[in-house]
Amino acid sequence: MVAPHGGKLVERLDFDEKKREEAYEMPRKTIGIDEARDAANIAHGVFSPLEGYMCREDLEHVLEHGRLANDLPWTIPIIMDVSKEEIKDIIEGDELALFYGEMPIAIMNVEEIYPYDKKVYAESVFGTLSAEHPGVSNIMAKKEHLIGGRITLLNDPPTDFQRYKLWPKETRVLFKERGWKSVVGFQTRNAPHAGHEYVQKTALTFVDGLFVNPLIGRKKSGDFKDEVIISAYEALFKHYYPKDTAVLAILETEMRYAGPKEAIFHAIIRKNFGCTHFIVGRDHAGVGKFYGPYDAQEIFYEYPDLGITPLFFRSFFYCKKCGGVVNEKICPHGTEHHINFSGTKIRAMLASGNKPPPIMMRPEVADAILEYEEPFVG
Ligand code: ADX
Repeated sequence: MVAPHGGKLVERLDFDEKKREEAYEMPRKTIGIDEARDAANIAHGVFSPLEGYMCREDLEHVLEHGRLANDLPWTIPIIMDVSKEEIKDIIEGDELALFYGEMPIAIMNVEEIYPYDKKVYAESVFGTLSAEHPGVSNIMAKKEHLIGGRITLLNDPPTDFQRYKLWPKETRVLFKERGWKSVVGFQTRNAPHAGHEYVQKTALTFVDGLFVNPLIGRKKSGDFKDEVIISAYEALFKHYYPKDTAVLAILETEMRYAGPKEAIFHAIIRKNFGCTHFIVGRDHAGVGKFYGPYDAQEIFYEYPDLGITPLFFRSFFYCKKCGGVVNEKICPHGTEHHINFSGTKIRAMLASGNKPPPIMMRPEVADAILEYEEPFVG
């Protein structure tokens, strides 16, 4: 089994009732659902080796070098922002309770309170300062200070998709039970079209198991809603996926739209789940025209020590001459014969209530999506 990132799967859980009661007596910070999910991701080892929110040294190293202070590959900061008001009564060394509504989620040992430069952050992570970039506008809206420190999880945040929720400890047991020595991980924020299916099945041809791991969490307007992605994948799995070689489970964290840097982050997460391989296709985790189509593949050459093998794919499309799904590496025909699986085009068809043609999207998948009156994030 592939080792977790940093060598050890992090586990920082204390579900004891007494500990939860203590949290009510502590200084409190209210967090949203995406933050609560990331607290759980830290504590259950999804973000191993992180044990909490980054302190200044790690953050600066990540922004400057794409690595933690100990030189381990890491590209997306995991931070907790705070206002002056929120930390009025906190000093370094104190404990802080993180609450989602009235639910105590975690206790944080506040190791450091520090300012940060949002522009440096945006330039490094997103490669742009454009307010059009959803990740940039997100960081610019954050508060002015950060707090770093280890956390202990008191409660798992609620989820609408418990039946697809697996932590790395569980996926590692599952892969072992199935006898999978090699497992390819697939990240997605979309309902599946034919290109997604082909890239997964092509990869699966070379390994023992496929781990389809849709991202559930905050996404930009126009993306598919979480429940639609799940229904669409349920239809695809039911009708077109082998039961003994493919598994569907969710990853609850927000999309950052950081292209190449997020591709590395996504690969590290799947390594922690126990994957040996990770699929990177065209414009992975991209948005608009901010990244080149294969930038998210190029960046992997900077990380020979990542500990998970990326599988690179050129974009799949349908070729009328070939009579099947191909990519530019294997198809000799001109673009006039090609039908691209453009996400934008498919979404436009679905938005007007039309079923995309079967060569673009499985009819059962399209039907599952069309059951929703409004399948997209508003
Ligand atoms: S992402 O933001 O999560 O990367 P998406 O769900 O569309 O978006 O893509 C998931 C993965 O499938 C990415 O690695 C992406 O590059 C790949 N992919 C998407 N469409 C195709 C396609 N037509 N051919 C090959 N790979 C693709």
